[in-house]
Amino acid sequence: MSRITVDLTGKVAFITGGGSGIGRGFGLQMAACGAAVIVTDLNGQAADRVAAEIVAAGGQALALPVDVADAAALDVAVAAGIARFGQIDFLFANAGVLGPADYLDITPDDWDLVMDVNIKGVALTCRAVATHMMERKQGRILMTASYNGVRAGAHVIPYRVSKAAVLMYTRCLAMVMAPYGVTVNAICPGVTLTPMQLSYAEETAAEQGITRDAYLADRAARIPMGQFTEIDDLTGLAQFLVSDSARLITGQAIAPDGGVMTSS
Ligand SMILES: NC(=O)c1ccc[n+]([C@@H]2O[C@H](COP(=O)([O-])OP(=O)(O)OC[C@H]3O[C@@H](n4cnc5c(N)ncnc54)[C@H](O)[C@@H]3O)[C@@H](O)[C@H]2O)c1
Repeated sequence: MSRITVDLTGKVAFITGGGSGIGRGFGLQMAACGAAVIVTDLNGQAADRVAAEIVAAGGQALALPVDVADAAALDVAVAAGIARFGQIDFLFANAGVLGPADYLDITPDDWDLVMDVNIKGVALTCRAVATHMMERKQGRILMTASYNGVRAGAHVIPYRVSKAAVLMYTRCLAMVMAPYGVTVNAICPGVTLTPMQLSYAEETAAEQGITRDAYLADRAARIPMGQFTEIDDLTGLAQFLVSDSARLITGQAIAPDGGVMTSS
């Protein structure tokens, strides 16, 4: 949990990929700030668990199983969230998949999955709430992009391309939504030790014939600040970006990553 909390009582957040890692962190932080949270995830049980955590801590939450590649399912989830809480103030388009690391392993199906979830899924998610936010003339949209969207590399190429597309989509959508008072920004996490990142570390370490801890120690040493991004760094930034203090911040890609954007 972020060390500072802003008061978001009466607000409602809709989160994709909310059942794990960074999305779970966003959900818990929003609830700690007083917002009701619509926790959606492809993994419905994971969404249920996070919603139960929020309710157990005294908050309000609704869990829904949603695949962000399914436009109709998103529309149903947005309608269900509005029916339950009356409105959606904040959208976290966060769900993502990594895809294969090595260039020669990438199949056409891998391209489809990574692009369907990471960029088409983000676009469909935003579209599902856009009319509601335009009609209310308020709203905050936050994408979870990545430092990999701005930095070239020989690994996880479809992932990098999809995240670069998310950054352009963020700027374009910011132009569409600006006349309605809706801000649109992207957070670019650095290496954050979520289940996605830990399984990548596990696979890469095995390929290199070293332990996962040895791989992670080497990876951290290549970050200028020498440490991984923590979920709290991301949730603290997110709560600021949805707060009244950030009303004119839009079209930005913000990287609370300790310098990973410039490291190898
Ligand atoms: N962990 C990192 O180092 C890191 C760095 C930069 C960006 N990111 C991004 O952060 C976001 C969250 O990743 P994370 O690290 O928390 O990973 P995670 O694997 O812990 O969580 C991702 C969640 O997304 C869900 N999901 C996957 N496909 C989905 C789909 N089609 N529809 C709905 N939900 C789906 C998964 O079930 C999972 O709960 C992703 O967009 C990821 O690309 C992560």
